[in-house]
Amino acid sequence: MRHYVSTSEQGINRNSMPFRLFEKAKRLGTWDPRDIDFSQDKEDWESLTELQRDQTLQLIAFFYSAEEAVTHDILPLIYAISKTGHLEEEMFLTTFVFEEAKHVDFFNLLLSHIGVKKDLNSYHTPIYRKLFDEILPETMERLIDDQSPKAIADACIVYNMFAEGVLAETGYWAFYESLKKINKMPGLLEGISNIKRDESRHIGFGTYLLQRIISEDSDMLDYILNKLQSLMPIAIEMNNTLRPDDVSAFGIKKEDGAAYMMRQLNARLEVLKRAKGKTIEEIYNTEVLFE
Ligand SMILES: [Fe+2]
Ligand SMILES: [Fe+2]
Repeated sequence: MRHYVSTSEQGINRNSMPFRLFEKAKRLGTWDPRDIDFSQDKEDWESLTELQRDQTLQLIAFFYSAEEAVTHDILPLIYAISKTGHLEEEMFLTTFVFEEAKHVDFFNLLLSHIGVKKDLNSYHTPIYRKLFDEILPETMERLIDDQSPKAIADACIVYNMFAEGVLAETGYWAFYESLKKINKMPGLLEGISNIKRDESRHIGFGTYLLQRIISEDSDMLDYILNKLQSLMPIAIEMNNTLRPDDVSAFGIKKEDGAAYMMRQLNARLEVLKRAKGKTIEEIYNTEVLFE
């Protein structure tokens, strides 16, 4: 017989972290990329130098196809969570896949408004391909046959902590550091700040899920910390390919990109370390600090 959580005595836990994230997503995750005005962006795009356009396109190409990749690759996690019977988590994840698809939609609209029609796949460097063509899909697809805590933890580490929490966060920083500083491309920046807000819920969910796994088995903490740290050479190489010169066309220093990445990594590691010894109730009741 099937077990229904919603109609059971236990019911849906509306105070649990994943349900509170679901509530936030219903309120904040419904922005529409079509409402963004890109008219100034078209003008600004023409005013950038060729090198600035090229470096911005590389960052856009990294993001655009990463959003496509994560739209595909979240599906096995939704399946695994549903198989292991966590309804509140599954409910939140329905907003997750919608938001990733909307991020793809945003980059598609942006490029068509600024008149870029060319194939952007040439911007994908070998290290980018390694992560998004191999490591990410292989880690996620394993969940179809294996819904063990370790397999779910691997998925959260690669997807939420690393791709979203370290790489994408550094990407938003680079957009702001380059375009906000020269006050150009307001539509692009508006979309990026909406995406960043969605992503803060995604990263928050991944952090919560890893904390839940650690609270269920404290031996998982060291495994999770080591696994996340082991991915950092990929981030450093990604930073090197995005900023091959010491200073970018917008004046961003390569070392500042690497330092920002390390700060993101350390912030994730610190939050995860705090989960050790906590009960599931304490994890459930963690305050949602981000928007
Ligand atoms: Fe996204
Ligand atoms: Fe995301």
